[in-house]
Amino acid sequence: MIDLNIRTQRLSLRPFSQTDAPRVRELCGAWAVARTLTRVPFPYPPGLAEEWIASHEGERAEGRCFPFAVTLHNRLIGCVDLFEGPQHRQFTLGYWIGVSYWGFGYATEAARAALGFGFGWLGLAAIGAWHFEENEASGRVLGKLGFVETERGPRPCLARKSDVPGIGLELTRDSWRAKQV
Ligand SMILES: CC(C)(COP(=O)(O)OP(=O)(O)OC[C@H]1O[C@@H](n2cnc3c(N)ncnc32)[C@H](O)[C@@H]1OP(=O)(O)O)[C@@H](O)C(=O)NCCC(=O)NCCS
Repeated sequence: MIDLNIRTQRLSLRPFSQTDAPRVRELCGAWAVARTLTRVPFPYPPGLAEEWIASHEGERAEGRCFPFAVTLHNRLIGCVDLFEGPQHRQFTLGYWIGVSYWGFGYATEAARAALGFGFGWLGLAAIGAWHFEENEASGRVLGKLGFVETERGPRPCLARKSDVPGIGLELTRDSWRAKQV
C-alpha cells in the first residue's frame, strides 16, 4: 500500500484534511503565490479550499493527482503535488510555499520528496514541470533538482486572467537516479 506520509530532514508531507482549508486559503490565496500559478483564482473564493481538498481522495484513487500538505513543526506551510497532465499522460510536479517561508530551501526539500514518491512508489519514467519565465525562484528550484528545459510557450494564469510566457521542463528517472548516488 502506498505510504502518503513522508518525512524529510525538516518537513513532513501528508494528505490534506479539511482542517487545512483556512490555512490553504490564507497562504495560496496571497497574490504573490496565486499570480505564479496557472489554476488559482484571485481573490481566492470562500469554499474553494474545502472543495479542492474534498477532491483529493477521488483523484488519488484514480491515480490522477497526488497532493501533499507540506508541514513544518505540524504547521501547514505549503503544498507539493504530482498531477497527470491534460494532454498527455506524463505527470507534472507543482508546488507552492507560503510567502513568509520562502528562501529556506523548503520548496526544494519538499519537491525532492515528491519526486522520490513519483519515481519510487508511482514508478514514473519521467516527470514534467512548468514555470512562468519571470518566476526565477521556481526555475532555480527545478534546476537544483536536475530538471532540464524542453519547451517554451504561453500558459494561462487564472489569477491574472491572461496568458504568461512559460518554460516547460522534464526530469527523467535515469537522470534523477544518477543524481542520488
Ligand atoms: C517558488 C517557490 C516555491 C520557492 O520556494 P522556496 O522555499 O523559497 O524555494 P527554495 O528556498 O527551495 O529555493 C529557491 C531558490 O530560488 C532562489 N531565488 C529566490 N528568489 C529568486 C529570484 N527572484 N531570482 C532568482 N533566484 C531566486 C533562491 O536563492 C533559491 O536558490 P538557492 O538555493 O540557489 O539560493 C516560492 O517562491 C513560491 O511558493 N512561490 C509562489 C508559488 C510558485 O511559484 N510555485 C511554483 C509555480 S511553477
